[in-house]
Amino acid sequence: MKIIRVATAEQGAEIAAELFVEAADSYPRDPVGLATGGTMAGVYRHLAKTGFTPRCSEAFALDEYFGIPDTHENSYANELNREFSKGLGWNGTIHTPGQGPYAGLHGPEKFEQTIQELGPLSVQLLGLGVNGHIAFNEPGSPFDSKTRVVDLEPSTIQANSVYFADPAEVPNQATSQGLATIAQAKKLILIVFGSAKQAALTKALHSPDETTPLAALNQHSNITLITYLET
Ligand code: GLP
Repeated sequence: MKIIRVATAEQGAEIAAELFVEAADSYPRDPVGLATGGTMAGVYRHLAKTGFTPRCSEAFALDEYFGIPDTHENSYANELNREFSKGLGWNGTIHTPGQGPYAGLHGPEKFEQTIQELGPLSVQLLGLGVNGHIAFNEPGSPFDSKTRVVDLEPSTIQANSVYFADPAEVPNQATSQGLATIAQAKKLILIVFGSAKQAALTKALHSPDETTPLAALNQHSNITLITYLET
């Protein structure tokens, strides 16, 4: 794993945006992999500032809350439409697990088939949850997992409630790409800011085991971590 130490989240988001552009432009026909949340919002702001528009026509989202429509203010589909598609003036398609053609019982399987058909992704953005989750692969997720519906841990529901007007509305399930799905991307850019994530990052880097989902990706041949935390 390559580690880039930065002084601030702002600087980290700028570097992440540069690496994303470089990777996406190296394989311009391949889809890109998108993530959501507070950390990624900064990366998308920097991408928009540079005037970058992806040359690919497809993108894949990492995860999505289960049971909320794509028009819901807090759906990841809506967030990516706002911050990535509209933000960058890009007209491509974002495939979101659990939404549109990927809703319903066979949706996760269909999403997995589509990513196999159109992938591998040139680059996948990744954040880390306070409890160490990657996408919505909670601690203990199998390293060979594929896209599926998962139960969210109470700590995840609590951490993400800050984004909801009514904290009681946070879904308790999600559809998430699996760790084996994520590992297929050609490049992984992992961005970890915030002292609340220090413990999870330290454990994943220094005592990786089945409770640290990042351990499934630690040995990826092209993974870069951008952080100001201690490593
Ligand atoms: C969320 C998402 C993850 C994201 C992580 C960090 O729950 N499912 O994909 O990377 O948690 O989010 P944030 O940047 O808001 O801390």
